[in-house]
Amino acid sequence: MKNEQPWEAWSTETLQSFQTDFIAWYEQEKRNLPWRVNLDPYRIWISEIMLQQTRVDTVIDYYYRFMEWFPTIKALAEAPDDKLLKAWEGLGYYSRARNLKIAAQQIMTEFNGQMPQTIDEIRQLKGIGPYTAGAIGSIAFQLPEPAIDGNVMRVVSRLFEIDADIAKASSRKVFEAAMYKIIDRARPGDFNQAMMDLGSAICTPTSPKCEECPIQSYCLSYQHNTMNNYPVKTKKLKPKDVYYIGGIIENKAQEFLLEQRGTAGLLANMWLFPIEEVTKEQFELLQKNWEKENQQLMLDFNEEPLVAEETPDLFEEFEQVVWQKRSLGEVTHIFSHLKWHILVFYGRQTGVEQTAENQRWIKPADFANFVFPKPQQKMLDLLKKEQQKR
Ligand code: ADE
Repeated sequence: MKNEQPWEAWSTETLQSFQTDFIAWYEQEKRNLPWRVNLDPYRIWISEIMLQQTRVDTVIDYYYRFMEWFPTIKALAEAPDDKLLKAWEGLGYYSRARNLKIAAQQIMTEFNGQMPQTIDEIRQLKGIGPYTAGAIGSIAFQLPEPAIDGNVMRVVSRLFEIDADIAKASSRKVFEAAMYKIIDRARPGDFNQAMMDLGSAICTPTSPKCEECPIQSYCLSYQHNTMNNYPVKTKKLKPKDVYYIGGIIENKAQEFLLEQRGTAGLLANMWLFPIEEVTKEQFELLQKNWEKENQQLMLDFNEEPLVAEETPDLFEEFEQVVWQKRSLGEVTHIFSHLKWHILVFYGRQTGVEQTAENQRWIKPADFANFVFPKPQQKMLDLLKKEQQKR
């Protein structure tokens, strides 16, 4: 005998009252968000890409600015790369921004400048997977497609006590099957956004607010008090540790050396204080040797620098730099599968400056003209903190 899935057991009446209750709640409670003011597919697309890995509260300011700088698909297709990255600075996962521009160019050349209106065509755009296609299709074009992300899987897994592991790609089809059954075909965009809002405000990962939930009476987890068993999720692998030394190098003109990264790979084209990969053993040794000296740092060029008598081998590349005796501290940053550790040193350029093609000496007042990724911001914060101590 085939086991029936719980959503298959819902009667037409149950389904209808569920949708009515849920949409009524959404109407009442929906958040007033800038991408909800109209159904412009371009606006919806940009919001969904920004929201993929970033929280709503963070996205809002970025979103307004992005729309101001690139108000149309055409403007995005023609966006200068540095301006585009600037618009994304601090949001992380920068390939999202690069893919947006490529997709905008696809729309200009392959779709006559108009956002395509079928799921299959939307899926052809660079950077758009099943979630984003479902979100754009349902919200902008009322296609009855689910938009399944982590929030939705949490809600649906509790609603029907679904045991499938949400960390596995193969589990997707069971969530899809449930969503295709329960989605409101008259208002799929509102239905999907109701799911998102419920997941972020009520059906939260820990301590869900079931007393306030509009679909409590349909929820198997609520009936059986099993909310905390769902969703089922195997642990993610720990990100791999990668170690660097970072050099904040100042010259006599009080400019700092910035280095642009290559055109491919992580943080492509972005600007950082120079960093160099070291082994874990080197990192730990440097940390030990450079932290036992509890020296005050000298960050004013008019004072004599307190330099290490023997400068250990930091950055062979910078022969003329005199390093301070103590590190400024460690900066860490996680990029989905990598964890960067950067031990940061302050140094002064003495003698002749040798500047490679991808390096520039820049005054702090001009930093704003560069696109800095998060680790760079954190290194800068270490320097500022040190300067404030004095
Ligand atoms: N998260 C992802 N997409 C969203 C949307 N359209 N509204 C609110 N939160 C979201």
